[in-house]
Amino acid sequence: MLHRGRRLRVNESMRSLVRETTLSPSDFMFPMFIAEGENVKIEIPSMPGIFHRSIDLTVQEVKDIFELGIRAVNIYVKADESVKDNTGKEAWNDQGLMQRTIRAIKEACPDMIVMPDVALDPYSMYGHDGIIKNGDVANDVTNDALVKMAVSHAKAGADMVAPSDMMDGRVLRLRQGLDEAGFHNVGIMSYSAKYASAFYGPFRDALDSAPREADIEVPKDKKTYQMDYANRIEAIKEALWDVEEGADMVMVKPGIAYLDIVREVKNAVNVPVTVFHVSGEYAMIKAAAERGWLDHDQIMMEQLMCIKRAGASLISTYFAREAAQFLKDNQK
Ligand code: PBG
Repeated sequence: MLHRGRRLRVNESMRSLVRETTLSPSDFMFPMFIAEGENVKIEIPSMPGIFHRSIDLTVQEVKDIFELGIRAVNIYVKADESVKDNTGKEAWNDQGLMQRTIRAIKEACPDMIVMPDVALDPYSMYGHDGIIKNGDVANDVTNDALVKMAVSHAKAGADMVAPSDMMDGRVLRLRQGLDEAGFHNVGIMSYSAKYASAFYGPFRDALDSAPREADIEVPKDKKTYQMDYANRIEAIKEALWDVEEGADMVMVKPGIAYLDIVREVKNAVNVPVTVFHVSGEYAMIKAAAERGWLDHDQIMMEQLMCIKRAGASLISTYFAREAAQFLKDNQK
C-alpha cells in the first residue's frame, strides 16, 4: 500500500496539526430581536433560547457576548402594528426602536460592530420588503425608502448596514446616499444571494412579518425579489453586481443547504462572504436535540465548521452565543 491517509488521523494532536479550518468567536455574528418596553424578555416559540429583548436587556446581552469574543450583532426590531403602513416611514424615524437600540448598544459597548437590518418588512402592513404598487413590490421607490432608512441608521451610529431586501440596484443607491450624508466609513454588507426559502419561517413568526392577506392585490410570497433556489449561476451574477455597486461584504442565505453557492461566490468575489445560518436551520437542530435524536453541541459545531470551510468569513447564527461558550469551555 502506497498511501495511508490514516497516519494523519491517529490522534487528536496529529489531527490538530493538519486541520485546515478553525472556528473562533469572532467568526460569528449574533442576530438579535428587539422589542419595546423595559425588562422585557420573551422567548420565541419556534426558536428555543432566542428572545425578544427590550433595549435595556439587549445592551446587557451585548456586553456579555462581547466578553465571549463575539464582535458583531445583526439587529431586527419588532415594530408595533400601529406603525406599519405601505410607506415604511417608521423605518427612518430617528427616534424609532431601531435607532434607539443602535445608540444604546454603541454607547454601552462601542467596539461591538452593529449591523442593523435594512428592509421594510417589519414596518410593512403587507409583510413585504418594500412598497406595494400595482400588485407587486415596487423596486425603485423602495430603494428611495431604503436610503433614508440606512442614513438614519448611520446617524444613530451603525458601523455597517445590512440590506436584506433584494431590490435591484439598492447597493449603489445606499453607497451614494451614505456618502452624500457624510458616512463614508459606514459599510454595506449586502444580502446578495438571498433565496426565497421556507427556512425563514420561524423568523417571520418572531417579527410577525410574513406576507399577509390584504385589501389590495399583494404577492403571496417573496419570489419576485428573492432568488429561485434552483439557481446557481444567478447567485454569482447578483454577488458580482453588488461588489461593483460598492458592497464591502456579500452574503449567501440560507446556509447549510446552500454551501455549493457559498463556495462559488467565494471563488468569484474579492470581498468577504457572510453566510446566514437562518432561523429554520436553528429550529431544526433544537427540535431534533430536544427529542434526543441528535447531539446538540456536536451538530451545532459541525454545521458552523462546514459553513466556514465552504468559504464564510463571517457566520450570522442564532448559535453565536452557545458556540462561543462551547469554544471557551472546550479550550485545551
Ligand atoms: C427580511 C428578512 C428575513 C430574514 C432576514 N431578513 C425573512 C424574509 O426574507 O422573509 C430571515 C432570517 C432568518 O430566517 O433567520 N428582510
